[in-house]
This record gives sequence, C-alpha cells and structure tokens, in this order.
Amino acid sequence: MLAVHDLQKSFGAFLAVGQANLEVKPGEIVAVIGPNGAGKTTLFKLITGQLKPDSGRIVFQGQDIAGLPAHRIAQQGISLSYQVVSVFGRLSVFDNVRVAVLAHQKRLLNLFTPAARLAEKETWDILESLGLTAKALAVSGSLSHGDGKVLELAIALANRPRLLIMDEPTAGMSPEETQGAIALIQRLTKELGLTVLFCEHDIEMVFSLAHRIMVMRQGRTIAQGTCEEVRCNAEVQEAYLGV
Ligand SMILES: Nc1ncnc2c1ncn2[C@@H]1O[C@H](COP(=O)(O)OP(=O)(O)OP(=O)(O)O)[C@@H](O)[C@H]1O
Ligand SMILES: [Mg+2]
Repeated sequence: MLAVHDLQKSFGAFLAVGQANLEVKPGEIVAVIGPNGAGKTTLFKLITGQLKPDSGRIVFQGQDIAGLPAHRIAQQGISLSYQVVSVFGRLSVFDNVRVAVLAHQKRLLNLFTPAARLAEKETWDILESLGLTAKALAVSGSLSHGDGKVLELAIALANRPRLLIMDEPTAGMSPEETQGAIALIQRLTKELGLTVLFCEHDIEMVFSLAHRIMVMRQGRTIAQGTCEEVRCNAEVQEAYLGV
C-alpha cells in the first residue's frame, strides 16, 4: 500500500530525515519508533504532504506522491491524526466531525447532492463507530484528554482514508484509556478495512498493537520487521531499548 524509499529532508544544514525506508501492506498496523528527534513526525509530514522531501520516493497504491500538495494526498486516501489537538474547542463534538465530513464531501460531491443531510448521517455513523454518540452534543473543549484524542480520530476518519497515520495516538492517556484506544484501533482496521501507520513512545503499547515495526535513529531507518525481530535486533537494543 505504501512504500517509502530513501526519503530525505533537511532543515538548513540539519538532516532531519535521511535514508528513511518503510513498507506498509494493506490491512497492516505498522509502528515507527525511535528516540525524541529521530524524525518520526517529519517522516509523517513528508508522507502527508505538509513538508516536501528533498529526495526519495513515496509510493502510495502504485503512485508516487512525493511532493504533492497535502490536499491532493488527502484525496488519495491518506489521513493524519495530529500529535497536537486540531479540534475546534467551542464547537460540539458532532459539529467538529460534521465540519470534517462536509470538507471531505465538498471535494467529492456534485452540486445536486443534498450534502448537508448526507453529512448528518455520516457524522452519526462515525460517532457511533467510535463510541462518541452519547457525547455528540458536548462542547469539544470540555472532553477528557482521552475523549479528545478519540474525537481527533473521528475527524481523521471523516476523510474516509485508506491509510490512517497517527502521531502518538495515546500520548498522555491513562492506562485504561490506552487499552481502550488499542482495542478501538484494532476494531477500526477490521471494520473499515483501514491500514494504520503510527508512532508512539510507549513501547508496551507499540508491542501490543503493531504487526510490524520500523525503527528510526537520527533520521535513518535502522531496522524493520515483526515485533520479535525488532526486539532481537542488536542495533535496536543498543540504540533504543537501552539493553
Ligand atoms: N521545521 C523544522 N525546522 C528545523 N528543524 C526541525 C523542524 N522540524 C523538525 N526539526 C528537527 O528535526 C528533528 C526531527 O524532528 P521530529 O519532530 O521529526 O522528531 P520526532 O521523532 O517526531 O521526535 P519526538 O519523538 O520528540 O516527537 C529534530 O531534531 C527537530 O528539532
Ligand atoms: Mg514527533
């Protein structure tokens, strides 16, 4: 579904991402791990078009998308759920999701489609599949941290992505919220046929959710494989796991 080949991005003289390689197959849940500053967020921004790579290839469903503008990449079916909250705090949960659904439909529907009505049904469907129905009318800014993250996920899903990219989806969550998020992401991949790429510092969370892991260090891919393969990799142990 996604193949990243030798991707490179510098900020001035600083090489933030260099020799990054990644492969994601349809239906997989793939994690990117690495210490602070390894280049994980930069890599995700390159894939979603918020940053332009200096060189390298990003092939999504057979097409090279490297350097395309972000809205074009979103149209192709890649959504990013942000590390930082991207929700309108004073709108209700329902309206936040509806705005995102409408933004997506505006790109797809013709003039004669009753977009507003369709958006309502779709909004309720998304809220229901994420367990947010009871909170639909709550002011978004009043949600708990965990529910706020689920709302961000709902907004990302409004784009009907094939590939969902999440930057630290469970950061700051309680252990119970993290367990709930893991179960939710697993269910969504099955029900919606989603493919998921995420990064996360909580290594236990990574091992319980990811099918495969890519390890970054100083912008470079140093390992890729199943959880077991990555756990046993000597360079990873030395660089990251500290054992
Ligand atoms: N816009 C920018 N301008 C200059 N340097 C940047 C910019 N964005 C990121 N960097 C640098 O690039 C490196 C990689 O940053 P990035 O945010 O991708 O790391 P990360 O792996 O996501 O880290 P974290 O785990 O802390 O989120 C860091 O050294 C960061 O300071
Ligand atoms: Mg980051």
